[in-house]
Amino acid sequence: MNQTELHEIVSHFAIEGIVVDIEPLGAGFINDTLRVRTAGDAPDYILQRKNRSIFPDVPAMMANIVAVTDHIRRKVIEAGGDPTREVLTVIPTVDGLPYWRTISDDYWTVCRFIDGSVTYERADTPLLAYKGGEGIGRFQTQLVDFDRPLAETIKGFHNIRWRFKQWDDSLARDAAGRKASVAREIEWIESRRASMLSFWTLVENGTIPMRVTHNDTKISNILFDAAGNVMCVIDLDTVMSSTSLNDFGDAIRSYANTGAEDDPDPDNVSLDMEMFRAYTEGYLSQRRSTLVTSELEHLAFSARYITYEQVLRFLMDYIDGDVYYKTAGTDHNLVRTRAQYRLLQSMEERYDDMCAVVARAAK
Ligand SMILES: Nc1ncnc2c1ncn2[C@@H]1O[C@H](COP(=O)(O)OP(=O)(O)O)[C@@H](O)[C@H]1O
Ligand SMILES: [Mg+2]
Repeated sequence: MNQTELHEIVSHFAIEGIVVDIEPLGAGFINDTLRVRTAGDAPDYILQRKNRSIFPDVPAMMANIVAVTDHIRRKVIEAGGDPTREVLTVIPTVDGLPYWRTISDDYWTVCRFIDGSVTYERADTPLLAYKGGEGIGRFQTQLVDFDRPLAETIKGFHNIRWRFKQWDDSLARDAAGRKASVAREIEWIESRRASMLSFWTLVENGTIPMRVTHNDTKISNILFDAAGNVMCVIDLDTVMSSTSLNDFGDAIRSYANTGAEDDPDPDNVSLDMEMFRAYTEGYLSQRRSTLVTSELEHLAFSARYITYEQVLRFLMDYIDGDVYYKTAGTDHNLVRTRAQYRLLQSMEERYDDMCAVVARAAK
């Protein structure tokens, strides 16, 4: 895309000021993200081309984002905060749509650039883990009274019943002829099937409530101010209805792993209790009064649930012949399966301690 084409795209949006230049912002993995600089006092903007292979229905996704950010904006204003900095502002097109669709079927969106914000690429200290938990916790709290339906933009996300349907089909197909070679790993999944389903049943029958979840809780999706305070949560593409616990569990899976997701040496992998404690304390600092008992009781379990789901997904992709995840080498999905399984085992071993940390932080 050259500058002329980019300027043409931006011209469809209702922005303030004169565009000076549009340049890539190097950080994201999913979308193409650019910064639109304007002259003088007008705000700068973020221009994004949304990834169509991950998000097939961008209009539905943007409707979710607009509904959620409108709700948070009201909360920020009520609390006397700054709505241009404490929530993402989606900029519509001059025709009032939250996206611009090109003739080549690309979807572009614009939001306000939040000046002076800092992002971290990795959370590698307990302080950052605390802040990450605080960021997601605050985001969820701002949305506890959100009561409008949200589109399911990614089908079956963190729904283990749906995953088992895919899993059973995958085993029946045995598309890559690998099933027999991973009998031991398949047993890791099967031996926990009932306990995972019984957790999910509590979500299905309403014992654990459905709420608004972010679904991509990495620290790079939280903007901080120069002093290191949480400003707001960004990258709302995956916002959907689910249990709050899934955001917590997924964050723990990545924040509190002493090794890598695809660590070739599973001995490097374990649950880092210090990071777990810090994230939990940050999260519950915002959510202890808004989570109901059934949620608090299953908070620690959600880390096992999400990690288990990831073991299943890596193993399923291995059995399918590496069709979903990008792989480096023929056994990459198996390496990932084993490394995530080690994390799951570590959580199972430390489960009583995890529950004790939650109970203390919830007081
Ligand atoms: N409104 C914004 N203000 C300031 N920086 C932003 C804003 N939106 C995105 N960024 C920066 O761009 C990076 C990538 O944006 P993000 O929406 O997370 O894209 P991706 O979905 O590709 O991860 C963020 O990690 C952040 O550093
Ligand atoms: Mg991001």
